[in-house]
Amino acid sequence: MSTSFTLDGNDVPFTPGETVLEAARNAGHYIPHLCWHPEFSPHGSCRLCTVKVNGRPGAACTLKAEPGQLVESDTEELNGHRKTLLQMLFVEGNHFCPSCEKSGNCLLQATAYQMHMEGPHFEEFYPDRPVDASHPHILLDFNRCILCGLCVRASAEVDGKSIFAIAGNSLGAHLVVNSESGKLGDTDMALADRAASICPVGVILPKRRGFVIPIGERRYDVATVDQNGQQELP
Ligand code: SF4
Ligand code: FES
Repeated sequence: MSTSFTLDGNDVPFTPGETVLEAARNAGHYIPHLCWHPEFSPHGSCRLCTVKVNGRPGAACTLKAEPGQLVESDTEELNGHRKTLLQMLFVEGNHFCPSCEKSGNCLLQATAYQMHMEGPHFEEFYPDRPVDASHPHILLDFNRCILCGLCVRASAEVDGKSIFAIAGNSLGAHLVVNSESGKLGDTDMALADRAASICPVGVILPKRRGFVIPIGERRYDVATVDQNGQQELP
């Protein structure tokens, strides 16, 4: 039995049990993604990895690869949807990249460049969530959260602490810290925790360490997101 499928006309081999995204990535093909990470179970929330399989849309990070599937990803239609999703994420938060210490190292920003996203086109939400600076070594700026859930998974699955959770739903969904006060300073979070370095955008940041990498040498200055996507993330 053949164990390959076709992605935008290319033959992609896979091991049974792999998802379309995993197999594509292992074969060196980039499918845009934000909430997926090689270390963690898929979340399926950002929808950026939406592809068409035999004409039907689905999330490549959760769809199992099957022999003979005809997968479309890099099409004008799907990339147009991805651009719209990115524009929605940008207006939902305060993504003022020029003053963000994650600029140049941010997966959201790099993906927007990759997809040629221009002005957001939607009305800005301008959330006003208080920054949490209660922890001695880690700062949280909730206004940049894209609800990818990676910190939730890293804290629970790797650190064994469950410090983060996503509360509320729909437009009210937001990241919370599991302590009585809701403050990070009242948890046992440590800078060495996996959750402290997993955030793909500028929410969970080490204090006193911003802007250390010179412009031109930042993660997505030296390799675009499609090239970086083939490597293990830090
Ligand atoms: S804080 Fe970062 S890692 Fe956690 S859900 Fe928000 S964007 Fe994702
Ligand atoms: S990467 Fe598949 S839904 Fe986010």
